[in-house]
Amino acid sequence: MNKFVISLGGSIFSSDLVYLKNFIDIMKNEKKYAIVVGGGKIARERITLLREMGASEYHLDKMGIQATRLNALTVSLALGNAMDIPISIDKALETLEIYGKVVMGGTEPGHTTDAVSLLLAEAYGASRVVNVTDVDYIYDRNPKLEGAKKIESLSYEGILELLSKEARNAGQNFPMDILSINIARRSHIEIDIVSFKNKENLENAIKGKKFEGTVIK
Ligand code: UTP
Repeated sequence: MNKFVISLGGSIFSSDLVYLKNFIDIMKNEKKYAIVVGGGKIARERITLLREMGASEYHLDKMGIQATRLNALTVSLALGNAMDIPISIDKALETLEIYGKVVMGGTEPGHTTDAVSLLLAEAYGASRVVNVTDVDYIYDRNPKLEGAKKIESLSYEGILELLSKEARNAGQNFPMDILSINIARRSHIEIDIVSFKNKENLENAIKGKKFEGTVIK
């Protein structure tokens, strides 16, 4: 199988525990993997708290990064690993070289773990990022709105257009950011958006089989 990277949304930690267990179950016996874990609720809570106390956006990002590393360590230990969580892409590549697998969180203030997963994919020579999230598809508009349609496949240009519309409706969730799409586009990396809520479907996506979700390429 071609090399791939998993971007695991931090929302898996604030959902039913069975979803995290399913993910661990799917990955546990794999010899090779690269997983980047998001910050989820704990990142948002600490960022909100510190923002109210006047911390700078730079420092809020540093807080967010620590939350992603806490979640990454949780996933890594659940998978039975003993190695440290690398704090840069370069260190992650070293870990991959030594162990054939890596679990990490964020790296630099100013971006997200999705962007880290795309940068890691570029550096590692992976052709695909599997974005494991709490939504089943990207929709043509806010999925809570009547008539919202699932999108099964999108070009990089198509998703950038949707994102620019989204930016005009601040506060709506979207499972990918512009930086991530731009990195994917420059290196022709496919992004597979899949929900963690259906184990079989998630396993299909991870294993590169046909799955229900949105493919961006
Ligand atoms: P996430 O990547 O989890 O952000 O990082 P998110 O957009 O909320 O992603 P989901 O919802 O879990 O998928 C949490 C926060 O940590 C900081 C940012 O502040 C981000 O909002 N962060 C993360 C960085 O500054 N740099 C990184 O490389 C990663």
